[in-house]
Formats: sequence, C-alpha cells, structure tokens
Amino acid sequence: MGDVRDYTIEQNWPQYSEEQHAIWRFLFERQERLLAGRACREYLDGLQDLGVAAGGVPDFERLSDILDRKTGWRIVAVPGLVPDDVFFAFLAERRFPSTCFIRRRDQLDYLQEPDVFHDIYGHVPMLMNPVFADYMQAYGQGGLKALRLGHLPQLARLYWYTVEFGLIATREVLRIYGSGILSSAGESVHCLEDPHPHRVHFDLRRVMRTQYYIDRYQETYFVIDSFAELFAATRADFAPIYRDIARLPEIAADQVLPQEHGYRPWRAGKKEGPHLSAARV
Ligand code: PHE
Ligand code: CO
Repeated sequence: MGDVRDYTIEQNWPQYSEEQHAIWRFLFERQERLLAGRACREYLDGLQDLGVAAGGVPDFERLSDILDRKTGWRIVAVPGLVPDDVFFAFLAERRFPSTCFIRRRDQLDYLQEPDVFHDIYGHVPMLMNPVFADYMQAYGQGGLKALRLGHLPQLARLYWYTVEFGLIATREVLRIYGSGILSSAGESVHCLEDPHPHRVHFDLRRVMRTQYYIDRYQETYFVIDSFAELFAATRADFAPIYRDIARLPEIAADQVLPQEHGYRPWRAGKKEGPHLSAARV
C-alpha cells in the first residue's frame, strides 16, 4: 500500500505566474456568474466563507487554516492523480489531495484531468459544510474497505455520481453540488437545463450499478433531497450490498429503468431558477 507521505509535495505558491493567476480569475468570474442560482446554498456559503479564492490561485496553507477551523479538513498538494489506496487514506484522515497546476488558456472550457481550479474551486467549498465533510471522510474509509473486498468500481460510481456530478433538490428547485459540474461552465448549464439527460432520485444500489463516461457530459444525474439523506443512505455496511448487486446487471450510463421518475429540467434560457419544475414528473 502506498504511503500518503510519499505523494505529498509543496504547492510552492510564489511560483505561480501572473498569467496563471489571471486564468484562475477568468474561470472564477465565469463560474461566479453561472453558479449564482445554480449551485446549492451549501456550496455558495462555503465559497463565501473561504473568502480568499477570488483573487488568483489560492495558497493552500491559508485556505487550509480557514477550512480546518470550520470542519477539521486540510488541503495537501499532490503531483496529479494518486493511487486509489492513497487517495482514500487521505480522505479518511480529512486531508483533501489537490493538484497544483492550472490549465492553459487553450483549455479553459475543458480538461479531462483535474487541475487546481477543479480541485480547489470545485471541491473545497463543499468541505466547509459539516455534513458533507463527514461524508467525504466516511467515503475514504469506505474506499479502503471496498479495495479489500474487491468492489472498487461500485464504490467509485458513488463518488462520481455524488461528489463529482450530484444534484440536490431543495424546496423543489434543482441545484448543483457536484464538483465536476461546479468547475465546468458548460456542464453547469447543461445539467440543469438540457432536456436530454435523465435526472432521477438518488438510490444507492442504482448508483453503484450505473456506468459512466469520463469524457463527456453525464447522461444521468442523481438527485438528493439533502446531504443528511445522502449520509444516511451510505451509513449502512456496504459489504452485503456489494454482494447483492454483483448478481444484478450493470446499468448503462443513459439507461432509464421502468417506473423511474425523472425531474424536469429548468426551462432553457430562463434567467431565474424555476420554482416548481424540479417536481418529479
Ligand atoms: N458505509 C460504507 C461502507 O460500509 C462506507 C461509506 C460511507 C462509503 C459513506 C461511502 C460513503 O463501506
Ligand atoms: Co474532483
């Protein structure tokens, strides 16, 4: 098993160039406009309370001090994607591994691998929320267990469809909480407004059976009512659940199941969020 310490590097904040800070500010300001009214309250509150992310690539130490006071999480710099066991061990210790590099100007709209904008802007505000912060730690512990049991693909889908691409319906209005969406200009609009993708209520087993693509917008989004619901649904011991679903077929990324109710998308082009269109149809 990899040792988490072997993967920790220095962020070396003074070495970011003015151009790199300008790229951060461009991405930040574009998302600020898109996410007002689209991101969930917990995310927007977390971002505001962090307070130091608007001016340029943040210094992880400063950010960690604010985050640590709120939920006991800290950010650690890593060189890129780390092995699964190392990633889970970090989360289990309330350490969020973040890349340091920022995308280039010709990659502003899309980048397949996470960069510092995705990792920090997308993930860290959610870690300011106490319930979500506990969920992420539990996920890390669950990851180490899934590895031992040989069910990593099933658990990885849970991360994908919640932490990265989750939607939440608060007072009947669909909002974003998934970090992969929050850091993407195109998908922030697509996930709420495009009529094509399916939006169905979160169901743990259903999620664990659902395949996903990493290189295009999601075909299916899973909607929770609250973070308390998500946390409660994942508290059970997953060992028997993994065994159960191993006997069931996988579900394609774009497949709708019989009797599955969808949430209506926002009406395209509407300035404000709809108030009833998140109602399940
Ligand atoms: N309850 C899960 C298990 O037994 C752990 C877990 C919690 C996984 C929360 C993900 C999220 O494996
Ligand atoms: Co991510």
